[in-house]
Amino acid sequence: MKTPVLPPTHLTPKKYTGPSARKVLALRRQHMNPGIVLYYKKPLMLVEGKMQYVWDECSKRYLDGIAGIVTVSVGHCHPHVVSVANRQNETLQHSTTIYLHPNVAQYAKKLASKLPGELKVCYFVNSGSEANDLALLMARAYTGNYDVIALRNAYHGGNTSSMAATGQSSWKFNVPHSFGVHHAVAPYPYRGPYGYNDADAGRKYADDVKSLIDFATPGKVAAFIAESIQGVGGFVEFPKGYLKHTYKHVRAAGGVCIADEVQTGFGRLGTHFWGFETQGVIPDIVTMAKGIGNGCPLGAVVTTSKIATVLTQRVHFNTFGGNPVCTAIGNAVLEVIEKEKLQENSRKLGTRIRRGLERLKSKHKIIGDVRGQGLMLGIELVKDRKTKEPARAECIEVLERARNMGLLLGKGGLWGQTIRFAPPMCINQADADFVVDVLDTAFAKL
Ligand SMILES: Cc1ncc(COP(=O)(O)O)c(C=O)c1O
Repeated sequence: MKTPVLPPTHLTPKKYTGPSARKVLALRRQHMNPGIVLYYKKPLMLVEGKMQYVWDECSKRYLDGIAGIVTVSVGHCHPHVVSVANRQNETLQHSTTIYLHPNVAQYAKKLASKLPGELKVCYFVNSGSEANDLALLMARAYTGNYDVIALRNAYHGGNTSSMAATGQSSWKFNVPHSFGVHHAVAPYPYRGPYGYNDADAGRKYADDVKSLIDFATPGKVAAFIAESIQGVGGFVEFPKGYLKHTYKHVRAAGGVCIADEVQTGFGRLGTHFWGFETQGVIPDIVTMAKGIGNGCPLGAVVTTSKIATVLTQRVHFNTFGGNPVCTAIGNAVLEVIEKEKLQENSRKLGTRIRRGLERLKSKHKIIGDVRGQGLMLGIELVKDRKTKEPARAECIEVLERARNMGLLLGKGGLWGQTIRFAPPMCINQADADFVVDVLDTAFAKL
């Protein structure tokens, strides 16, 4: 089998003149928190990025198949985003919300126009964890209830409240944080009790939420929080109807429904702009980060004016939330998604790659499941299709081999058994075919 070659590009990197990867690694080991992890046996140092490609310090080019953990939505250093950011950087970098600034107000209007129903009031923060923390605060203050239903296998962030909602032991420190949070069975057709062949699986998984409300809470809840496709959990798609049934149970118990769109939003899923739309529901609160800023620290919580009013009970302040530079970037990102039809590109190329991955599944036994939508695709690896024993070491090996061939991928799932592909949404057809070829080659050698 011939080794796949990265599609040609006219993009070229500048000559890198900074410290070596070895030196940077030594600095990290000496001065940075050892809890932060690195991918790859030989850690990769990236020094430049343009659109869907990144370069290491030796000018080796890679197709970025994980986009800085599903964050670079419209392309690395996209020229429109860069020019808007540069202009704002030279004009006013920071003001805070105690003064008026046109960017934040105009951006709020533009972002709200992308949401359905009464979801029209925006709060800006700096990250997904902060957005989820604020959403949970609003839900509790609005409903007067405390209990929250989240999902097993979920990831919502690393601060105390979002760690509480997270449903994977790997991310939960052994400190008190989950009081009042209950985790329902993950609607995970490949591994859960109701599989792909069960047409009623959505309702059955939702029944577990109802059961939790009845048996584990005072019968009243503040909120249900879920990603629309579980990201860190390995791109797990919920069965049809799951959110519809669940939202009904939660609202009947006085709770509000929070959609965490940190990974699934902004057109990545192709058929819809927001992940929750693929399940035919409208949440009460939507949280966003990552792709909203294409790499700049921007997050948002969007809700109805009725729910938003609860924050007037006290002063709520976030120093950098709605910063003029970040909101200028957020606005530019929306302009690029629209102008360059990136949602449609995600749909078209996502469908093409998914078809290729299904072909690989029929060829390579190690592939247990292929799933996802648009440019958010997961491949779950198992040692045995019957026992579904997670193939963790093999997943690491595929990532190593893909890296050597010029493709960066992510991994997810509790055991690190699922390959995650979520590139910048500007990839082209040649990139899409390259991805499938690289994976085919990597699996063949296992
Ligand atoms: C779905 C989801 N929600 C929230 C977060 C937390 O975002 P941040 O790392 O910006 O705090 C993440 C991060 O990976 C995420 O994937």
